[in-house]
Amino acid sequence: MAKPISLEKILFSQGFGTRRFCSDLVYADLVKVNGVLAEDPEERIPTEGLMLNVEGKDWEFHEKAYIAFNKPPNYERSHKTTHHPSVYSLLPKPFVGRGLQCVGRLDFDITGLILISDDGQFIHKMTTPKKNIGKVYEITTPEPITQKQIDRLLNGVVLDDDPKPCFATACKQLGENTLAMIIVEDRYHQVKRMMAAVGNHVAKLHRTEIGQYLMPEDLDEGEWRWLYPEDLQKLSKSVDAPSA
Ligand code: URA
Repeated sequence: MAKPISLEKILFSQGFGTRRFCSDLVYADLVKVNGVLAEDPEERIPTEGLMLNVEGKDWEFHEKAYIAFNKPPNYERSHKTTHHPSVYSLLPKPFVGRGLQCVGRLDFDITGLILISDDGQFIHKMTTPKKNIGKVYEITTPEPITQKQIDRLLNGVVLDDDPKPCFATACKQLGENTLAMIIVEDRYHQVKRMMAAVGNHVAKLHRTEIGQYLMPEDLDEGEWRWLYPEDLQKLSKSVDAPSA
């Protein structure tokens, strides 16, 4: 069992602000611990199953944050964006406070499943090709997709900045202009460049699955949820074929 920690440190760890600010939240009667109004920021509290309420909002304690988010189009993944609002503008403020990062590359126009975390090891594991964790993309193209294009994606295409070819590990044609494709690498604009290399283009790009974790059907665009150990297990399993 984890050692009890002072309430002020717990609030700080969750991203509610500086230690001083977190103390002040308690003194201002704005923090409840498991439903009971807290009085002392120095009080040591067990963190297992801990439910906080801060400024009227419930907050589940998580030592490390693992989040699934259904990304809408026209949001950038960085904290300091250039042309579009940041995905963090759609997420609770403490996520920014505790330094969460999006896992892997994401173009502003891509939609669908993205992971967000503050666990560096997890972020590395999800993005390194060595772990063979597939990401399933649903691609919509302006031109019909041909079998020849699919074969080329599966056999590997060379992109302009790297002589090492990149492969689709599986493809499933969903319609004349739609394809589900799995890739394990995370190169810059990879799907868009692979489609261009075989003579087609990406009109829409949507991520539906990472490892064996599928975007939850009830997670609407712009919504997020915590991931639990059983979800993390599914995320780290390789996927042979798109479920779509
Ligand atoms: N491939 C792309 O082209 N863009 C992304 O955002 C992700 C994969």
